[in-house]
Amino acid sequence: MKAHSTLLFNAIAKVEERVITIRHDLHEHPELSGKEERTKFFLKGILEAEGIEVIESENHFGLIANITSDPLKPYVALRADMDALPITEQNEFSYASREKGIMHACGHDAHTAIVLGVALALNAIKNHLSGNVRFLFQPSEEILEGGSSEMIAEGALESVKAIFALHTYPYLKTGQIGYKKGVMLASADMFEIEIFGKSSHAARPHEGVDAILVTAMAVNSLNHIVSRQIDPLHPAVISLGTIEGGRAANVICDHVKLQGTVRTVNHQVRHSIPKMMEVSIAGICKSMHASYKFHYDFGIPEVLNDDTMVERVIEAASKIVGKENCIDLADPVMGGEDFGRYLEKVPGAFFRLGTGNETKGTCVAQHNSRFNVDDDALIIGMKLLGSLALKEMGNG
Ligand code: NI
Repeated sequence: MKAHSTLLFNAIAKVEERVITIRHDLHEHPELSGKEERTKFFLKGILEAEGIEVIESENHFGLIANITSDPLKPYVALRADMDALPITEQNEFSYASREKGIMHACGHDAHTAIVLGVALALNAIKNHLSGNVRFLFQPSEEILEGGSSEMIAEGALESVKAIFALHTYPYLKTGQIGYKKGVMLASADMFEIEIFGKSSHAARPHEGVDAILVTAMAVNSLNHIVSRQIDPLHPAVISLGTIEGGRAANVICDHVKLQGTVRTVNHQVRHSIPKMMEVSIAGICKSMHASYKFHYDFGIPEVLNDDTMVERVIEAASKIVGKENCIDLADPVMGGEDFGRYLEKVPGAFFRLGTGNETKGTCVAQHNSRFNVDDDALIIGMKLLGSLALKEMGNG
């Protein structure tokens, strides 16, 4: 009997051309977060035509597909995100976006095509599998709202023992894989602060409480939290993005609203920051006779990889691209990814699929209007996710 990986790789070779065509079709028809309707029905049609079980949601356009050989055994899950970005594509190739102002500029078309390709390949060899695999086609990743949390609430992780996802990466060459143990991407929280003062004539400031001055002091103080209260070995960002207030040039302002975001890669630091912020704001308001409202929203958690699962990625990738092409990404990045929510529930790993190729022009950064993915990376992504699934099913 042939090794399972040989069966898998042969099955992948048979679907490779089709997967590239599917990726181009998705690229040509991008849809924004929460609006992935065409993408959903496109995938559903392909999966059902192959006899793969598909579960739809009533609340969003995400899909769950299952290949089950033994209902008593757990599942290994592979996740793809499906949404595009509000960017007008400037690429001129034949499959460039037909939707003005919408573009797959983050490679989610490739993620979806790769996971679909793995589903087709594993389905073709399903009589040889001794475990179960689930494919999560997730909406709304870019807005970090809904997406993974709704999929989880609807049971996406039921009976799942491990989960994997990849993300295209133009900073690595096609043929390279990037991995990182521990925290790979930051948590992303939002906050809102309101400062209340007392209005008076601008010429008689002593009769009012100037919310603008109090805000200026608060902004200054909030910007000192990271530099003076947090261990410099734990990266954190507190950024204020909006500020609104005031009615007229000759009136002391009585109300200012601020909004911002906090990014961290450490659980303790993340949970200590809201208190530090509030202590700072409260102290300033007290000294200035102002009052405040402080609202902090814990958003997506950090992407915290399981070290054992990362080892499996390295082991599987070494066999596909060679150990020298498995790149340890030393530092986490402060961007967010809602895959972190799955990793809060089950062990798994998120890793980077190199898609950079100078001659093909695929080294352009993500979220850029000229971003594109090297199609040669699709087969590597399929082999790697497929191998990880086989290993978890006991067929590796
Ligand atoms: Ni992305």
